[in-house]
Amino acid sequence: MDSIGIRQFSIDDYDRAVEIWQQAGLAVRPGDDKASIIRTLEHNPGLFLVACAGGEIIGTAIGTYDGRRGHLYHLAVLPAYQGRGIGRRLIDEIGQRLAALGCPQLNLSVNLDNTAAVKFYEAIGFETRGLQMGKTL
Ligand SMILES: CC(C)(COP(=O)(O)OP(=O)(O)OC[C@H]1O[C@@H](n2cnc3c(N)ncnc32)[C@H](O)[C@@H]1OP(=O)(O)O)[C@@H](O)C(=O)NCCC(=O)NCCS
Repeated sequence: MDSIGIRQFSIDDYDRAVEIWQQAGLAVRPGDDKASIIRTLEHNPGLFLVACAGGEIIGTAIGTYDGRRGHLYHLAVLPAYQGRGIGRRLIDEIGQRLAALGCPQLNLSVNLDNTAAVKFYEAIGFETRGLQMGKTL
């Protein structure tokens, strides 16, 4: 297989990113429309990363920083490329970029029934800290 590179997302990558989310089984929600992604990029420059193989995007990860904590969204790797360390690399790169901004902690949300993702996050050093609650606005 091709060697894997990591680079910043550009809005021209939007349609391909949506394909990756769908193929990896992530729910694509109204907040994932192009205008929302543009807003996310403006607020969080350099924190939306993609993994590429042979010029084709095969993984995504969105980082955000609100000035207190970092948050990870839409970590996804195409099924054919899973288990090759790409998810770990994407998170490590976002973690380094957040740390460079002075961010002390990276949080994320995961559906309780996504046990594979929970095991993945535990394998790379994340731990469960409390319960996250949310409300649709
Ligand atoms: C979760 C996901 C991003 C992981 O990416 P990946 O590239 O397959 O993971 P990696 O190869 O980087 O794995 C890193 C470590 O986690 C471990 N790991 C990965 N999946 C695992 C699983 N299901 N169970 C146990 N350990 C797992 C690997 O063994 C590896 O550990 P090691 O380095 O000690 O060998 C990927 O499986 C995916 O896209 N899943 C579907 C979408 C999803 O659920 N995203 C998360 C939403 S919150």
